[in-house]
Amino acid sequence: MTKKLNGKVAIITGGSSGFGRETALLFADEGAKVVIWDVDEKGGEDTVSAIKEKDGEASFFKVDVRFSAEIEKAAKNVEQLYGKVDVLVNSAGVHQYRAGNVVETPEEEYDKVMDTNVKGIFLSSKYLIPLMSDGGSIVNIASAWGTIVSNKVPIYCTSKAAAIQLTKAMAIDHAVDKIRVNCICPGTCKTPMVEKIVNLNYKNFGFDSPDSMWDSRKSAHPIGRLGTATDISKVILFLVSDDASWMTGSAIIVDGGYTLGKSFVGKR
Ligand SMILES: NC(=O)c1ccc[n+]([C@@H]2O[C@H](COP(=O)([O-])OP(=O)(O)OC[C@H]3O[C@@H](n4cnc5c(N)ncnc54)[C@H](O)[C@@H]3O)[C@@H](O)[C@H]2O)c1
Repeated sequence: MTKKLNGKVAIITGGSSGFGRETALLFADEGAKVVIWDVDEKGGEDTVSAIKEKDGEASFFKVDVRFSAEIEKAAKNVEQLYGKVDVLVNSAGVHQYRAGNVVETPEEEYDKVMDTNVKGIFLSSKYLIPLMSDGGSIVNIASAWGTIVSNKVPIYCTSKAAAIQLTKAMAIDHAVDKIRVNCICPGTCKTPMVEKIVNLNYKNFGFDSPDSMWDSRKSAHPIGRLGTATDISKVILFLVSDDASWMTGSAIIVDGGYTLGKSFVGKR
């Protein structure tokens, strides 16, 4: 069977963990040459090893997506390695781990969340789009909380709404370069990022244990379960593949029905 990404060069930010890691593994299975950009060296090397064990092609470059000097250096490395880029997945991201309203949120938390979740997309795209000489595809990971809001994470919600608008603005500008830009708005998936926010903040959200917060998150998703990294990586693959060649500027909600509203009555 023909592989969907044969010979394509794919850069995945945040590829050391969660959605990014799962996407890197899936892309490599589909024939892509994968380059992982992340601050987490150990996680990145683990992803690369897992790909190489299955005879795939992958490499890791330590990058903090908040800083242009680091991105510029990493982009030069990609240019030397492959001379081009076909796919960029912007999955590097942080939650508002110090959950609280705007009065309670330290300025440095605002900067960290916005710089990682918004400026990171801007910088990676700024330095990699010039390498998409044959056209390409970009997928940004926004969030269901970029479309609706939740309590005590105002900066996270703001960063994800910005990621959706940045996706649309990039899509309109770069259609002429044959570059498609879409984003995904996931509901809650059990990844290390969400485990961290639950463990650090369950009391702050009024729960007596992490498990009771997980149960509450689960019941907010009408499909009856939390998402997985695989639920998201499969949609990312669809978006970057030729199957989605007429899609650009879309914000795809993948959330087990979370954003449908509160019309669900009764116990599951
Ligand atoms: N898990 C969910 O439920 C969920 C829901 C909606 C949106 N998202 C978004 O999906 C994306 C991936 O999240 P995940 O759940 O896979 O989290 P994760 O923590 O498992 O993975 C995020 C990765 O980003 C990396 N990273 C963080 N800051 C970085 C920086 N400054 N530079 C480079 N790399 C950095 C981390 O080291 C990590 O490897 C994030 O943007 C997140 O906001 C996640």
